Amino acid sequence: MSDTKKRILSGIQPSGALTLGNYLGALRNWVELSRGDEYEAFFMLADMHTITVRQTPKDFRKNAMDLLALFIACGLDPEKSPIFFQSHVPAHSMLAWVLICNTYMGELSRMTQYKDKAKKHASNLNAGLFTYPSLMAADILLYQADLVPVGNDQNQHLELTRDLANRFNNAYSETFKVPSAYNPKVGARIMSLQDPAQKMSKSDTNENGYILLLDPLDRAANKIKRAVTDSGSEVKRGEGKAGIENLMSIYGACTGKSFDEIETEFEGKGYGDFKKAVAEAVVETLRPIQEKYADLMKNKDYLKQVYKSGAERATRVANKTLAKVYRKVGFIEP
Ligand code: TRP
Repeated sequence: MSDTKKRILSGIQPSGALTLGNYLGALRNWVELSRGDEYEAFFMLADMHTITVRQTPKDFRKNAMDLLALFIACGLDPEKSPIFFQSHVPAHSMLAWVLICNTYMGELSRMTQYKDKAKKHASNLNAGLFTYPSLMAADILLYQADLVPVGNDQNQHLELTRDLANRFNNAYSETFKVPSAYNPKVGARIMSLQDPAQKMSKSDTNENGYILLLDPLDRAANKIKRAVTDSGSEVKRGEGKAGIENLMSIYGACTGKSFDEIETEFEGKGYGDFKKAVAEAVVETLRPIQEKYADLMKNKDYLKQVYKSGAERATRVANKTLAKVYRKVGFIEP
């Protein structure tokens, strides 16, 4: 039965608080994709990737538990789709080593995320930052995933994953499913509220540029009201209207309305009215998530049971692939 379903795997790093952009661009799609019967999904907290940048253990732990609770609060169903910590499934690092030995230095040095991070973290330019994409390939290939829902910024890593899968399959016989990236279409790219040319990101130095899923509701509403727009007054897409267009994306993603519908709704009304409506839509999107999150954080036993059972289910699938790989490369069976 599960053999006929397409498999999905995706992951997010517990490297800090989640933004509204993460939710509207990624998590919400995961919820959609995993809800029906079409796919069997695995959702991973990529905590091993996170330590490529030095973490304070206490904050790291808090971020990891927060992210787990938020996965569930946003609507992922851990009964249906295993949710697990990457560090709880040893097969990830075990396959990563084999893949690292099949990845060329040249390939890794061409990764734009690596080049960016190398600049940003010049004082801690560790080897993990460099081999990061091979670990990500292991995450995906272990589960024989068909589809990997990721933002465009991860497409290059996905391309490398496909190359590694093919390279291994050619060298050692058919072993890995060659996965495809799944870039969601709409509402996917939420930009900074202060600089609509930049993606909304919690690493923005201006706190008004992003909304966190756990921002107090009045604070979130205020950030919308302070968002940059332009000197015009019409709620419309167009040249020089990136700020308004971003607010339209947010409003559309929160309410399900299309750009055309939004333009009609706000015809003859000003930015003030529009921002009020966007703020309200954002607040009503965040409210149920925050309530669920607060409940979950009171129930650590439940959260623990979720990640334990998630890791067990993930391990069963991952170990099957790993055993094949270890046999094919010629390791003696233990
Ligand atoms: N590199 C991804 C990011 O930073 C996170 C990630 C790690 C991931 N392993 C993955 C995403 C496997 C998809 C599949 O966004």
